[in-house]
This record gives sequence, C-alpha cells and structure tokens, in this order.
Amino acid sequence: MKTTRFATIDPQLFTDEALQPFARMLAAGKTVAFPTETVYGLGADATNPRALAAIFEAKGRPSDNPLIVHVAAPEDIEPLVKTVTPLARKLMAHFWPGPLTIILEKSPAVPDMVTAGLDTVALRMPAHPLARRLIALAGVPVAAPSANQSGRPSPTRGSHVVKDLEGRVDAIIDGGPCEVGLESTVVDATGSFPVILRPGGVTREMLLMVVDHVAVDAALVKKDFGGGESVTAPRSPGMKYTHYAPKAPLILARSSRPAETTTEAAHVLITLALRHQKAEAVMGILCTDETAAILAEMPETAKLPLVVKSLGSVHHPEEMAANLFLRLREFDETPASLIITEALSDNALGFALMNRLVKAAGNQWEEA
Ligand code: TXA
Ligand code: MG
Repeated sequence: MKTTRFATIDPQLFTDEALQPFARMLAAGKTVAFPTETVYGLGADATNPRALAAIFEAKGRPSDNPLIVHVAAPEDIEPLVKTVTPLARKLMAHFWPGPLTIILEKSPAVPDMVTAGLDTVALRMPAHPLARRLIALAGVPVAAPSANQSGRPSPTRGSHVVKDLEGRVDAIIDGGPCEVGLESTVVDATGSFPVILRPGGVTREMLLMVVDHVAVDAALVKKDFGGGESVTAPRSPGMKYTHYAPKAPLILARSSRPAETTTEAAHVLITLALRHQKAEAVMGILCTDETAAILAEMPETAKLPLVVKSLGSVHHPEEMAANLFLRLREFDETPASLIITEALSDNALGFALMNRLVKAAGNQWEEA
C-alpha cells in the first residue's frame, strides 16, 4: 500500500504553488493522477522506466498495452519522435491542445515500456489548463493512461480515481468533472492521411474539415458494428482488452425492425426487460432522455423492477458522452444485475459513444 496524497484544486483558478508539489513528484518518478478534458489520467515521467512500471502496477494494466505521452507544448514532441510528418503538423495546428492523440514513429528517447515495444509513440497535448501547467512544471513528458483500474470505466470525477486507485498511487488531484468524458481520438499520422485507431472527442467529420481523406482502422469497424469477428488484429493494442465494464453485465438492445424511432427504442428495451425479468431481481436500463420519457409513460415500466438512467438528450451527443462513464459507475451503486442499453446513432460523436458501449457490453447484442 502507498500513502496517497490528495488535493482538490480549482481547474481554472489554480496557482503554480498549488501544483508545484505534484510537479516535483512527477519529476521524481512518482505516480500522480490528474484531470484532463477527456478523462482523468494517471501520470508518470515517460522517460523513467521505474515510474512507468508503477503505472502498470497501479492499474493492473497488461504490459503489451502502450501508453500515451502527454506534453505541454507542440514543440515538446520533437525529441520523442523520428520525424514530424506534414500530416501531424497539420493535425496539431488544428486540434492541439485538445482530445486528439497522434501516433508517430518514435525516437530512441522513448523507453520501450511506453510503447510496449512498438516503433511508434502516441502523443497528446491536453486542452485542460491544469493538466498542461502540471506537465510544464514537471519539466518531463508525462505518460498517462486513464486513471482507472484496468477494465473499469474510465474516471471522469476525482472520486472515481479515489475509488479505483487510492493506496496504489502517490497522489490524486481532484479538479472536478471532465468536460468531454470520453478518451481522446487516437490517429495514426505516420502516413499521408489519418487512420482512426480509437474514436473520441475529435470526430471523423471534424478531421475531414482539415484533410481530404480519413480512414478508420478495419478492426474498429468490423468488430464494433458487424457483430462478427474482426479480420485484422487491432492496431491500437488497447482495443483488444475488456473495457469500461460496470459490475453488472451490459447488453445492447437491437431492434429487428429497420426504422429506429424513440418509441421503437423504448419498446425494444421493455421487451428485453420482460424477457429477462425472471432471471434478474433488478434490471438497469441505460437510454436517452427522450426514450426515458416514453418509458415513464409505459404501463410495463411501473410493473418491472427497473432502474432507468439517462445519458442525456439525443440532440446533445456531447452531453451523453460527458455522462457515459459516470452512469456506468452509478449502476454499480444500484442492485441492478443486468443493464439493458439503448443503441445510439453511430455518426459523428455517436461513433465514439457506441465504440465505448459496445466494449462495455463485450459486444453482446440482443434483438427484440
Ligand atoms: O484521453 C486520453 O487519451 C486519456 C487521457 C488521460 O489523456 N488517456 C488514455 O490512455 O485514454 P489509455 O492508456 O487509457 O489509452 C491509450 C490508447 C490505448 O488504446 C493504446 O493501445 C493506444 O492508445 N496506443 C498507445 N500507444 C499506441 C501506439 N504506439 N500505437 C497504437 N495505439 C497506441
Ligand atoms: Mg484506458
């Protein structure tokens, strides 16, 4: 057990004095969890193999899953990469600081433990002011995976980090809720067009505003939406592990009819709840505000042992993204032993949302 040092720091009105002790800890090879605009990260000096080992140990993370290196300024990536491709320059100019992680060929300065032996390195300059200042004060590039126990939903509140990592890390900075709520988009920028390896806050549509062509890793598309086996091994190694799992198993509701309306979605969810009623004492339903409103009017809803939670309005996908991991963790505090989830539209930010839901469900779909 480690003694974990805590601080609650205002994410906008912080002072260097408040951050200095934690910056010094990072520079000294300690593990420090801190907020970013996407999710909380568990940081350590990316050039220090012992500090990196402490990250894997604290999270229970498989060592073949590489880490993202966080920097405070675009020029800080220069020593970490072989070359900055013209594509990477363009993406950095448009999307940094922000939720876009860029993969480039690594320089020898990056330890193998960061990249799990790959010859590429993942780089990100967060938009969160506290995160950026902390990294700048530390004076080292900061490797930071999401600050959750491996396999659990990513943390979007300081309390989530405390729950998963108290006694396992050297410090936790609580800087309030994360604005985006989903992890960064990961793109391979080694070639002439970006290849999305993990969808996130920067959408394919947003990338297409600055480049002519965007590819999506084949494993992502096949595995997440075909319901079948992926044909290629995932190029983002992390994508192959169990992810985002709440304590109760989660299934995604699929309609046998083609046209999905909100009314149809509510009927599909209730049909599945009726089907599982005998086996489960209490069931959870995760859906949009609009579907929840229809469920509330349905006579079956009152008769079934249901805990209904809403992600937010279907018209505000960014709100649903910000709530997703929070809601998954909230279900752990309820008696629900099965969570039936509405499938969302998979365009724009919906692509990232559905990617996380499909993973949380272990790609389990059920048709009604
Ligand atoms: O928003 C985020 O990216 C958060 C915050 C803390 O910045 N971090 C985060 O890290 O989500 P993590 O470790 O949970 O996810 C990193 C993902 C994994 O899927 C990993 O496999 C992939 O990035 N990755 C890292 N290096 C890679 C590389 N060289 N090539 C391909 N994928 C890589
Ligand atoms: Mg993670």
